[in-house]
Amino acid sequence: MKPPRKVKLVEVGPRDGLQNESVPVPAAVKVELIHRLQDAGLRVIEATAFVSPKWVPQMADNAEVMAAIRRKPGVSYPVLVPNRKGLEGALAARAGEVVVFGAATETFSQKNTNCSIAEGLARFAEVCKEALAHGLKVRGDISVCLGCPYEREVKPEAVVRVARALDDMGCYEITIADTLGTGTAGKTRAVLEAVMKHIPAQRLAGHFHDTYGQAIANIYAALECGVPTYDSSVAGLGGCPYAKGATGNVATEDVLYLLDGLGIETGVDMGKLIAAGEYICGVLGRPTHSKAALALAAKCKAA
Ligand code: HMG
Ligand code: MG
Repeated sequence: MKPPRKVKLVEVGPRDGLQNESVPVPAAVKVELIHRLQDAGLRVIEATAFVSPKWVPQMADNAEVMAAIRRKPGVSYPVLVPNRKGLEGALAARAGEVVVFGAATETFSQKNTNCSIAEGLARFAEVCKEALAHGLKVRGDISVCLGCPYEREVKPEAVVRVARALDDMGCYEITIADTLGTGTAGKTRAVLEAVMKHIPAQRLAGHFHDTYGQAIANIYAALECGVPTYDSSVAGLGGCPYAKGATGNVATEDVLYLLDGLGIETGVDMGKLIAAGEYICGVLGRPTHSKAALALAAKCKAA
């Protein structure tokens, strides 16, 4: 299959990135980051998560963040929702899109959401029904599709089962996530090919953590399968509190460098994106994880 001519980048830095910070990031900084990202041309920005503040205190300011965003026409601000209570928060915050998040293994499902895969799917079915009735869009993420910190190997069939269930309940897009970042290009292709027997590539997305430096290769493999949507995190921020040792998502700047080089349209401006990454790295007091951002910034200085 030919790679898509256009790609939708889903920026997950403000959520996946900042959920993993040990020192709380003020809501005003999160909002400023979101504004800079939308000014860089990103059209989908995962803004926060309506999860339990006891489980992930970093997202406890969800309502404050949603209320302060200067919403730009044409931009979507999806929020994570694990259950009915989360959906209530998302609705009160006037979210237009919610993300339910399941897992391909029982242990990860328990560690991340305190329930079995089947219990999680039953909750998501309820959330989907209600969200769709309110006119919201629902996306479905599946964690540990290419390896699990607790169960190691994950069979493509386990991913297919969850993907089909999310599809049946009305998720418009299903995200295949490599939470640990252990996946390689061949494995990415095998899982996608198994899922694509049931759900077209156009409705799939890739979410690759870059722990082993394989995310760009995995994205390339997914592009060759025709997958048109990728999650990424500015400056490569983040990780998952329930996948110890996993680093952040692939850096948005690195993905954009790949896509620009392939002549694939995204609508994102590299200069403004790098500046957004420099802003958040400055606040966090830490260098970027993006190799493209580092190289391009050095080139600018030398010129
Ligand atoms: P639980 O403790 O089993 O929940 O947690 P519960 O239903 O038994 O309720 C216990 C208390 O939590 C109650 O309050 C509820 O009201 C409250 P109390 O009566 O004790 O005062 N509660 C909530 N509060 C706020 N918002 C809610 C909510 N739900 C219950 N939505 C639960 C179950 C699912 C809530 C918990 O496990 C949880 O919040 N987990 C989320 C963990 C998380 O956010 N992980 C990171 C995001 S996923 C990720 O990063 C992966 C991804 O990037 C893809 C990839 O890379 O793999 C998406
Ligand atoms: Mg993630």
